[in-house]
Amino acid sequence: MTDFPSGFRWGVATSSYQIEGGVAEDGRGRSIWDAFCEVPGAVAGGDTGAVACDHYHRWPLDVALLGDLGVDAYRFSVAWPRVQPTGAGLVERRGLDFYRRLCEALLERGIEPFPTLYHWDLPQALEERGGWRSRDTAMRFVEYATVVHDALGDLVTKWTTFNEPYVSSIVGYGEGRHAPGAREGHGALAAAHHLLLAHGLAVREMRGVEGHEFGIVLNQSPSVPVSASERDVAAARRHDLLLRRQFTDPLFGGRYPEDYEEVFAGVTDLSFRHDGDLAAIGVPLDYVGINYYYRQHVADAPHRDPDPATRTAIDIGIDTTRLPDVPRTAMNWPVEPAGLTETLLGLRDRYPDLPPVYLTENGCAYPDRPGFADQERIDYLRDHLAAAREAMTAGVDLRGYFVWSFLDNFEWAHGYKHRFGLVHVDYETQDRTPRASYHWYREVLARQRRST
Ligand code: NOJ
Repeated sequence: MTDFPSGFRWGVATSSYQIEGGVAEDGRGRSIWDAFCEVPGAVAGGDTGAVACDHYHRWPLDVALLGDLGVDAYRFSVAWPRVQPTGAGLVERRGLDFYRRLCEALLERGIEPFPTLYHWDLPQALEERGGWRSRDTAMRFVEYATVVHDALGDLVTKWTTFNEPYVSSIVGYGEGRHAPGAREGHGALAAAHHLLLAHGLAVREMRGVEGHEFGIVLNQSPSVPVSASERDVAAARRHDLLLRRQFTDPLFGGRYPEDYEEVFAGVTDLSFRHDGDLAAIGVPLDYVGINYYYRQHVADAPHRDPDPATRTAIDIGIDTTRLPDVPRTAMNWPVEPAGLTETLLGLRDRYPDLPPVYLTENGCAYPDRPGFADQERIDYLRDHLAAAREAMTAGVDLRGYFVWSFLDNFEWAHGYKHRFGLVHVDYETQDRTPRASYHWYREVLARQRRST
């Protein structure tokens, strides 16, 4: 595994709400996740991100651990409600200063900051004005992105707009499993569109500084039919539209998917699409970030509502619970590294203009073992790295790899139960203890440096 090209970037990833805590510090406003965590039953165990890993206070220690690990890149996110507590207008200097200090400390250790501007923590004040259902939120995002870009532009050159717009829109506004907890077909599709629009308009606005690069992070995985039957194959194609093509076709193909209206038959009002939006969304990018965890196995299933006229958009008649007989992680996700190679090759083949790729997340949760031994995680990471390498050999322009996650953290609706970290976090004491996988990754990085 020492045969990655020189210049290949090695990192780890986190996000603001999952690690920072300090939710009432330095003028931070409320986010939709603060509100969602208060809804009874929304998050397992009634957990919240109020303290999380207390990274807001312990970041110097965390940066030291990153330095010791030997990564040359760190992906984190900027919390919009720290920068603009109400999502518009007023800028909170202390919030920006936190990220300045963090970036400076990273750079001092030779670690390049890879910030994401939006990893799901929308200011609650904007949700109260419609959230991502509303086109105006896209305009607010452009303003926020510009503020951060101006404030950190001397320290940061890689700018990621959004993390996994699929989850923000479909899981947040369609399925209600994530903040803001809405279950609306139309709202979810409008949200997906507005997230893409916000991305395109923000990149257009930020572009122009020499050396700055712009990208977006998408969750991607192949949608595999559970059988060769026509029905299952069609179901997998619908799933692929929901998860991938409604985002990637406008971003990299300059078009809306041809089966969009047929699959989302319940949504007939597409007035959220305006003339000129596709051109804005398809703004050329310098990279795309891919988050890969597992393959999706899809079977045909009856619609909850068989009448397309009244059906909710998010009921696309699929069943994704029929998993193959392969090992699973604690999240019950099948471990299938070959799916990563397929994902990368599939994207490359579908979009001739695909920009260079970073694997911005890959990792797994496993139950804790005595002595912080996590051989399963080491195996998972090693096999996925090999799968990534294979895609490179087949011609994919892959530029870097980020493990999810650096620290155990708040796994959204699952609360703190599932641990993804290379570093174990004791939530009682906030002690950090590197797991075996941290030492393994450290060794991979050291070997890598020696060989290039
Ligand atoms: C993707 C998300 O970006 C991240 O926030 C989450 O914790 C990981 N997947 C693991 O589920």
